[in-house]
Amino acid sequence: MALQKHVLSLFLMLFIIVIPYVPCYVTSQEDPLKIHGGGDSPFNNIDDGGTPKKLIQQSTQVLSLNRFVKLGVTSSSASKLNVNDFGAKGDGKTDDTEAFNKAWQAACSSGRDVILVVPSNYDYLLKPVRFSGPCNSRITFQISGTIEASENSSDYTEDPQHWLMFESVQNVTVQGGGTINGNGDTWWRKSCKKNPSLPCKSAPTAVTFYRCENLIVENLVIKNAQQIHVNIQESSKVKVSGVTVSAPEDSPNTDGIHITNTKIIQISNSVIATGDDCLSIESGTQNLLASDIACGPGHGISIGSLGETGTEELVSGITVNGAHLSGTTNGVRIKTWPGGSGSASNIKFQNIVMENVTNPIIIDQNYCDQKTPCKQQKSTVKIRNVLYENIKGTSASDVAVSLNCSQSFPCQGIVLHNIDLRQEQEAQIPKALCQSALLSYVGSVSPRCP
Ligand SMILES: *[C@@H]1O[C@H](CO)[C@@H](O)[C@H](O)[C@H]1NC(C)=O
Ligand SMILES: *[C@@H]1O[C@H](CO)[C@@H](O)[C@H](O)[C@H]1NC(C)=O
Ligand SMILES: *[C@@H]1O[C@H](CO)[C@@H](O)[C@H](O)[C@H]1NC(C)=O
Ligand SMILES: *[C@@H]1O[C@H](CO)[C@@H](O)[C@H](O)[C@H]1NC(C)=O
Repeated sequence: MALQKHVLSLFLMLFIIVIPYVPCYVTSQEDPLKIHGGGDSPFNNIDDGGTPKKLIQQSTQVLSLNRFVKLGVTSSSASKLNVNDFGAKGDGKTDDTEAFNKAWQAACSSGRDVILVVPSNYDYLLKPVRFSGPCNSRITFQISGTIEASENSSDYTEDPQHWLMFESVQNVTVQGGGTINGNGDTWWRKSCKKNPSLPCKSAPTAVTFYRCENLIVENLVIKNAQQIHVNIQESSKVKVSGVTVSAPEDSPNTDGIHITNTKIIQISNSVIATGDDCLSIESGTQNLLASDIACGPGHGISIGSLGETGTEELVSGITVNGAHLSGTTNGVRIKTWPGGSGSASNIKFQNIVMENVTNPIIIDQNYCDQKTPCKQQKSTVKIRNVLYENIKGTSASDVAVSLNCSQSFPCQGIVLHNIDLRQEQEAQIPKALCQSALLSYVGSVSPRCP
């Protein structure tokens, strides 16, 4: 039996080599790692990045983050500053922007490590603020109270994209158990997604980390962002944990944690309920490990969308290991616009529980989030080496697996390993729809492509 299987898969491998673009191609394999490369794998000739060795290197790099975590400022060595000493009122009405600016400048220019305290039981109203580096020392921004966004849109005319922004800072920790509230409701009502007669304009991101290195964000509540809750952009060595994001299910474009052009990032132990993607992993993200993520409501965990602007985009070394998605529109999704170039590769989705998720496993290479339909195009962001492993639970729709890949560049090296998805409502097994996906099954997989 085993031999027969072996001969069969050998035959199928040859078949792949001879006829490279077979839609929804299926083989049977024993070892998931083999499929990602290794001596005799047919995927060897696909690319550089696909070997298990590379994948393992990437995880070690992500795990080495634990080393810099110890760099956190300890209260014994650091001086403490309190925003109230810089004139902040914290009464929820007074504009405390200037006081926060002054407090940050003092912290940033301090020769010693600093803990900048936003005390509990106060409520600070802020216009857009930039916490800019480089700073002289390590800073712990300890938010224990509440920070609220100004709801007056004329406060955002200078920079309509950002509310709180940390830029070019190294060795910074933002923590403290407090709450950051974007008061997004006034922006949501003006969104073209809520009211199609209005023009589509973007709203500010609640918290942006731009060009930061050695960044820790932990133990915070971030809610009701004007648009994206947390954007981590062009940064490296980032650890996010114990973060709670919450916004209503119908709030437009309120991504939980959005990551762009960032390398070496770990997100763990976080609970995200929002109106858009819980995690959105965008172009330029490399070596990301997300674990213990609870998501729902929301649009799930997404890689992309990629390729919207037609520029070359690259995402690689992404591992989501340990997630619970509940009532979301998608589970784990890779989405690319028609057109564009570059690749999304070496991606692992492991140990994931789906609870009434509309599209539990989805690759959509025809993603088009605009009012006018997108044109069909020849070029695309290529998708390679994606492992789905130990994914179980229920689908709200009758399609639990949808691999809708580009006809000009089929998805390659897709592996489904131990998948058990059922329908939430019906007793039937849900469907798998597959187009232009070169895929393999390992272990017990249900549903399978027809
Ligand atoms: C940040 O930490 C790194 C590693 O310890 C150190 O080399 C660098 O000087 C630090 N920068 C600041 C501003 O503290
Ligand atoms: C918004 O801010 C502008 C400029 O500071 C001010 O003139 C206006 O009165 C404010 N609107 C509200 C509703 O507070
Ligand atoms: C499952 O999701 C569907 C669609 O989102 C919803 O209508 C239904 O009430 C949900 N069922 C349960 C048991 O939550
Ligand atoms: C793939 O997407 C295209 C465009 O949205 C759609 O027409 C097609 O039916 C989809 N195929 C599958 C198998 O879902």
